[in-house]
Amino acid sequence: MMHGGEPVDVRRVVVLISGNGSNLQALIDTCKTQEGLGGEIAAVISDQADAYGLERAKQADIATEVLPAAGFASREEYDQALIRLIDDYQPDLLVLAGFMRILSPAFVLRFHGRLLNIHPSLLPKYKGLHTHRRALEAGDNEHGVSIHFVTEELDGGPLVIQAKVPVEVDDDETSLARRVQAKEHLLYPIVVRWFLQGRLQLQGDQPQLDGHPLPKSGVLYQEDA
Ligand code: GAR
Repeated sequence: MMHGGEPVDVRRVVVLISGNGSNLQALIDTCKTQEGLGGEIAAVISDQADAYGLERAKQADIATEVLPAAGFASREEYDQALIRLIDDYQPDLLVLAGFMRILSPAFVLRFHGRLLNIHPSLLPKYKGLHTHRRALEAGDNEHGVSIHFVTEELDGGPLVIQAKVPVEVDDDETSLARRVQAKEHLLYPIVVRWFLQGRLQLQGDQPQLDGHPLPKSGVLYQEDA
């Protein structure tokens, strides 16, 4: 992009998905708003060839890549191929948006400080799968979503933001998931924009927003704040 004759450095994001890609869609939609995302989505990469998110990317004229796990002898080999693919796009930030693979330590180290994940629970509660079911089974009266920098510990990296969702008496997995996802779609664009604007950084293992260290549970998002 040129601005006043000078080239302007557009920040670049690569998004990794495995499925529906509704969080990807929230990021794509944000690019089209006046406020924008603070950069461009350079590519969407999926480990699943039939991920619907790939269609969403194509419709937005974003480059897509598919890297199926079949044919790789180990997680490490797969992740090295994934790194090579990502490097082609020179991203400033790597966004995991429903990318349902465990990442090797080498991968996580390679992108330390520029690798974000979204998880459908109030971490550290309910790492892993079936978070809505587990929150309902436990009788929790609140549930939610977390966005964090990725470290070697699965769903365990330093938290950037959380939003709470009340559990209603008549909630089932579907209704609860729907309300959690609505919050996801609000939060991810905010956090990605913070990062691309240089407001959010990871210093060692401590996230900082506007130069201030975040509390252990990250920012608590409140809609009317
Ligand atoms: C989202 O709910 C995200 O939080 C979850 O996968 C879903 C992807 O939805 N991620 C994880 O569980 C990661 N541990 P999407 O494909 O519609 O964005």
